Amino acid sequence: MCGIYGYVGHKSEAANTVLDGLKLLEYRGYDSWGVAAKIKDERLEMKGGFLTEKHVGKIGDSHLNFQLSTFNSHLAIGHTRWATHGGVTVANAHPHTDCKAQIAVVHNGIVENFQELKTYLLKKGHKFISETDTEVIPHLIEENLKREGFASSVRDAFNALRGLNAIVAVNAGSSEIVVAKNGSPLIIGIGDQEFFVSSDVIGIVEHTKKVIFLKDLEMVILGNPPAGGIQLLSLPEGNKLEIKPEQITWSYEISTKGKFDDFMIKEIHEQPNVVRNIAGNYTSQIEKLAKEIQNSKGTFFIGAGTAYHAGFSGNYLFSKIAKIHVNTSVASEFNYLEDFLTRDSLIIALSQSGETIDVVEPLNRAKKKGSKIFAITNTLGSTIYRMADYNMLLNAGPEKAVASTKAYIAKVSVILMLAYVLIGKTNEAKNILLKTADEIERLLSETTVDDIKKIAKALSVSKNVYAIGRGVSYPSALEAALKIKEVTYIPTEGLAGGELKHGTIALISKGVPCIVFAPMDETYESVISNAIEIKSRGGVIIGISPKKAEVFDHFVEVKDVDSGSYIAQVVVAQLLAYYMAIDLKLDADKPRNLAKSVTVK
Ligand code: AGP
Ligand code: GLU
Repeated sequence: MCGIYGYVGHKSEAANTVLDGLKLLEYRGYDSWGVAAKIKDERLEMKGGFLTEKHVGKIGDSHLNFQLSTFNSHLAIGHTRWATHGGVTVANAHPHTDCKAQIAVVHNGIVENFQELKTYLLKKGHKFISETDTEVIPHLIEENLKREGFASSVRDAFNALRGLNAIVAVNAGSSEIVVAKNGSPLIIGIGDQEFFVSSDVIGIVEHTKKVIFLKDLEMVILGNPPAGGIQLLSLPEGNKLEIKPEQITWSYEISTKGKFDDFMIKEIHEQPNVVRNIAGNYTSQIEKLAKEIQNSKGTFFIGAGTAYHAGFSGNYLFSKIAKIHVNTSVASEFNYLEDFLTRDSLIIALSQSGETIDVVEPLNRAKKKGSKIFAITNTLGSTIYRMADYNMLLNAGPEKAVASTKAYIAKVSVILMLAYVLIGKTNEAKNILLKTADEIERLLSETTVDDIKKIAKALSVSKNVYAIGRGVSYPSALEAALKIKEVTYIPTEGLAGGELKHGTIALISKGVPCIVFAPMDETYESVISNAIEIKSRGGVIIGISPKKAEVFDHFVEVKDVDSGSYIAQVVVAQLLAYYMAIDLKLDADKPRNLAKSVTVK
């Protein structure tokens, strides 16, 4: 995943500019971070070389060391890492360098053939100091530099990499930044006598609104202005391309925690208005999507993690409400399922960030087959937004907590309304969503939250947790489990109520908690029977339902708001997850090993 940032230009504080940029990109990975700047200062022995600083952990509000933060630098690069290859150590933090520390590289992606390249480079005498796949890149550039210039050395090194990668490389012997991309996002900002490189446009807009969204297999050479300009080249050959910068016309909402302790709980509290916004303002957009579905021969929802769960609930909601069949696939698996796509297929891509590579990759393939892409994202200008034929923005506001909450509720609200619109019952959908928003608001009241906090306290000492549901509540159970495991690190499994007896019930013993979603629909009686089966083996039942059943040891009432109940009931699980994390004294917003934007396969 990772965030990449680079600066070259007239400012003499390149290192600090890069650090500020990295702070905005930290959501992309927070295992470690590092900055390398080319320093020219008479107080240093070295003239024209790099000074590098690297740390393990989150950037937070870190400052750079004295030399990097105060000495003149006009060129710097930085990286905030989500480790794929090699542990979370200072040695593995980026930027990585060649044998003589004259070339520095930051990288996003996975060099799939790194082992092969490393063997070749070791034979040539190169010395490696990290366990990363990335380190082969500066050494390859070093090798190429023996026979060609810096930019072509980077080009040839990049061409030798397999996998989806984005790199930024600098060299002590040149005042250029060389950038190449195939897969992971990179954006170039063109300022007045300065250039920026960033994994996300959010890192650039405060400096300039003139940008280039690099396409795959493109390379850019950024010289130090005014002497050095910008060149855009195609890969693998390096042929010159015409530069057509875009002007960013939107501004970015800066999100703060306000009166809340964490973004996660703030975002949970924003959900009633997210649902109301969809009820009030989405009719024409949803009608457009409904038409596309009717005109297509086969509709597929794809998404990762929480977005997948939102799509999966679409399977049930479409069947139940619209009597229409849709297919939902985990995005990373869609590559292996899409042989049957045609020009008439419609892919509805669900993604909060709009950047998830597991979604981008199958979309690229589907596009090649001529299928239509409809993107439902929360991020204007994101990769998926730009590659789609049609777009619908969720307008849920920035979602900062790694655990997705309001984007899930927004996606399911859109899907639910879509199912009703398909059968001409738009007003019914609106009424249901408005009632749902009110019910979520009630769940967020102090009294209900206090009850939920007590259950969370009891759950937080568990070794493992289960969640079950049937029908549309099965995706709710999957989402509940994902939310709890990602912020509490307690192994939690969500499953279809009927599946328990096919294996997992073997794990139930005295005191093991199970969350049971029991809305007032055709699943109520069967799922209560499943709860009784668990209780008979000593399990503790947390019932989330409009109706208290005898089997429940703990009960959270979610009033029946028709099909909106499938939305409201998940809010209880979000709250449980959040307060469990608080009881466990964990960082709910930035759980270990995760990142908000997943741009590696
Ligand atoms: C949600 O809580 C997760 N952190 C994660 O599963 C997330 O939903 C997934 O990575 C997809 O992200 P996207 O919606 O930005 O594509
Ligand atoms: N594969 C590289 C590493 O593990 C880059 C990972 C990333 O994109 O964050 O350091």
